[in-house]
Amino acid sequence: MKIIKVVNQQAGGQQGSEIFEAALNNGAKTFGLATGSTPLSTYQHLVASNIDFSKTVTINLDEYVGLAYDHEQSYHYFMQTNLFATKKFAKSFIPDGMNANLEQAIKNYDGILANNPIDLQILGIGENGHIGFNEPGTSFDSHTHIVDLTPSTIKANARFFENITDVPTQAITMGIADIMAAKQIVLLAFGRQKAQAVKAMIEGPITETVPASVLQKHVNVVVIIDDDAASLLR
Ligand code: PGA
Repeated sequence: MKIIKVVNQQAGGQQGSEIFEAALNNGAKTFGLATGSTPLSTYQHLVASNIDFSKTVTINLDEYVGLAYDHEQSYHYFMQTNLFATKKFAKSFIPDGMNANLEQAIKNYDGILANNPIDLQILGIGENGHIGFNEPGTSFDSHTHIVDLTPSTIKANARFFENITDVPTQAITMGIADIMAAKQIVLLAFGRQKAQAVKAMIEGPITETVPASVLQKHVNVVVIIDDDAASLLR
């Protein structure tokens, strides 16, 4: 893992967008995207740039189950608002958490992933070490699947909803094997609340208890962290 320390999230976003640009210049055709507060500064830098992504495809990690696409907390809405409205891509895929047939939605997404190998995947990390919505205990061999969100994740996400009971309890997510299949991965983490997960990811044992620890096995990972997120590293 290559670790890049930055002074703050804005600087991290600058680094993130430079990695996107370098990948594009190296022929990347498919970008794996993430939602949440972490990738926002990267998207802001991409939006402000004149980098042309119009011939590339995006594939998002995950989506809530049962949250309408125009709901402000849906990941469809997030991507539209924070990136797609201003940056044009040839095609963008996000898991279909509104599909009445979730088994079909899973099959469709696995097909999309098979047809569009990801060149660069951007990731955040959960306070419990999750990547995508792959919660602790998820098999490293997993592909697209439905997850029951852990109480810790529901609590962390409750800040975005009026009521904790409004937070969806399930999500559809790419699996860990799908994430590991990306040619390059850039994981960003900012703030002290991520320090424990960052330490476990980088210095801890490779274990399904800490999903992000699997990244130790990937040959091309860049971790972009601020001082707070790095504060527990040896
Ligand atoms: P955050 O979420 O970027 O909103 O902190 C990251 C994650 O849970 O993967």
